[in-house]
Parts: sequence; C-alpha cells; structure tokens
Amino acid sequence: MGLKDHWYIAAESRELKRKPLAVSLVGSHIALFRTDQEEIAALEDRCSHRNTALSRGVVSSDCITCPYHGWHFDGAGRCVQIPSLGASAHLPDHGVRAYPVREQDGYIWIYPGESLPDSEPFHFPNYHEQGWSSFRMKTRFRASVEACLENFLDCPHTVYVHQGWFRNHDTRQLSAVVRSTSDTVEVEFRGEPITRSLVSRLFFPDGRELRHTDRFLMPNISRVDYDFGPDRHFIITSQCTPIADYETEVHTLITFRFGRIAPLVRLLLEPVCRKIIRQDVEILAAQTEQIRRFGGPQFHHVETDLLGLRIQSMRRRAERSEPVIEQPDQEREITICF
Ligand code: FES
Ligand SMILES: [Fe+2]
Repeated sequence: MGLKDHWYIAAESRELKRKPLAVSLVGSHIALFRTDQEEIAALEDRCSHRNTALSRGVVSSDCITCPYHGWHFDGAGRCVQIPSLGASAHLPDHGVRAYPVREQDGYIWIYPGESLPDSEPFHFPNYHEQGWSSFRMKTRFRASVEACLENFLDCPHTVYVHQGWFRNHDTRQLSAVVRSTSDTVEVEFRGEPITRSLVSRLFFPDGRELRHTDRFLMPNISRVDYDFGPDRHFIITSQCTPIADYETEVHTLITFRFGRIAPLVRLLLEPVCRKIIRQDVEILAAQTEQIRRFGGPQFHHVETDLLGLRIQSMRRRAERSEPVIEQPDQEREITICF
C-alpha cells in the first residue's frame, strides 16, 4: 500500500453546496458535487471530450454538465448525454474516473488510490459524543505533510514559537515514554509541570494531574491529548492533506470536555487556538523557505526529537509500498525538559 491508498479529507461538508467544488490532493484533481439525492460524487476534474474542468460546470439532477459542449456525467463518471449527438444516438463509452468518496464527521473524504479501499475513513475521537464539544479549523501550511506532523507533535518548539501563549520554558526534567506499533507512534509525558501561560491560566484546572500524550497515526494524522480526568479533557486532532510537495491543507478538530460552560469556553478557546496555529504557519513557512534555499533538508536529530524520525521512516516505507513490518510493540523512556 502506497501513501495514495488511504482516505484523505478533501473538504469540509459545509463547503459543498449546489455549486461543484474543485479540489486537489495527493496529485489528483477532482470535481466534487452533490446530486439531488444529496449523494456526493467525486470525478476527475477533466472532461473526457476536450479536458475542460468539470468543476466549472453545473449540476442538474444527478449529473454534472461540462461548461464547454454540455456533455453530462453521472456520479459514477459515466457519460450519459452528449447534446450534439441528439437524443436517440448511441453513446460512446467516454466516461471519467470516479473516486470513492464518503461524508463523515462533517468532512468529505476521498480515496485517491488505484485499488478499492479496504477500510473506512478515520473517525475523529469523541466527535458528537455526549458531554463533548468541538470546533474545527482549516489551515493551509506552506510546508510538507511530514514537517506539519512533526510540528504538531513536538513539544520543545512550544516554549519558543508559542512563548507566553502556550507553554513557558521550565528547567525541570520529565520522563517521556515512547511507544510504537506498526502504524502508530506515541509519547506519554510523566510528571509534566504546568507552566504559567495564557492557555494554562484559562483552561487548565489547578492541582489536577495531567496525562499528556502525543500520537501519530499512519499516514497523516496527529492527535494530542491533555487529559485532566473525566470532566476536563482536550483533544486536538489534525489530518494533513498533501496539496503539493510543500503545501498541506490541515483539518483540525478540537474536541473537549469542560462541563456546562463548554459553549463559553469555546468562545475563548477558538481564537487562542487560531493564534497558536498561525504562529506554527509562520515558523513552518520560514523553515520551508530555508529548505528550498539550500536545495533540500539536512537535519540533525537528538533523542528529544521524539517522533519525527519514526514518522518519516513509516511514511517512507509506505511511499515505497514496502510491506509493514509486524514488530512487537516497543517502548523506550527518555528524559526531556521543555
Ligand atoms: S470539453 Fe467537455 S463537453 Fe467538450
Ligand atoms: Fe506549535
């Protein structure tokens, strides 16, 4: 299985109304549209006749009509009408490729692989569950998928890039336990001190033990948990859709528990999260510029770069379609301070 053989978020559900939507992901260009029955179709965005973008066309009943000569394509990509041939003509088999598509958790997912999917899209944790609130953010990064994933799961940068907002430097050492399986790698921090910052003052409870885990799920998902017990828990889940080598669309869903005042908390939490993510957008764009200026990355790693190397090697294997090595779950402990 290569990196294409997975489900990717193409758009938020609310973005697709009656007008077709053009999306690009993992090297594919796709026209999305909703039929009268509210079913979603995902067709290659290239008319089989003279290659005009179907996403520039209009939708009527169950078909999308090409804006150039009016060929009609149904949701399965079949060409079902060619106006210039007349109503009784025999139609040639000039369809376009249709991609498997799903609508789930408020997102439209596409499977760009050549094979048929053997799994369903990822479910965002605790989404729409009782007692949980959520909001979503869509952010375009000028950075590779791997640079984004490493950043979302990297603690040492937070005391520099988000100083005062999210976390401040603390010299106390804590222990990080890294666990990996064939398609995940995660780190759990033990004894993490809560330093004073805007986020901790506003949202973290006093005197409660924090269970903080950062997790990567193949091929493109990061999940961060700040768990203070049954009534105070924040989960930040990001799905990275590759648009180009150094361009990634990140869909983040923030799910949290905060008791009865959750709607009020959201009003504060959302702008703070947006500010923090914009700081990451800036530092990653600056990193990308450097990588391009010097003709490629040349990284040195230390053991407190906890997940980046493992994310890279898992994705490289998938990219080369190398079989997943079934290895026993591994665990190692590292000392870190941030
Ligand atoms: S290019 Fe689409 S109908 Fe001619
Ligand atoms: Fe960050």
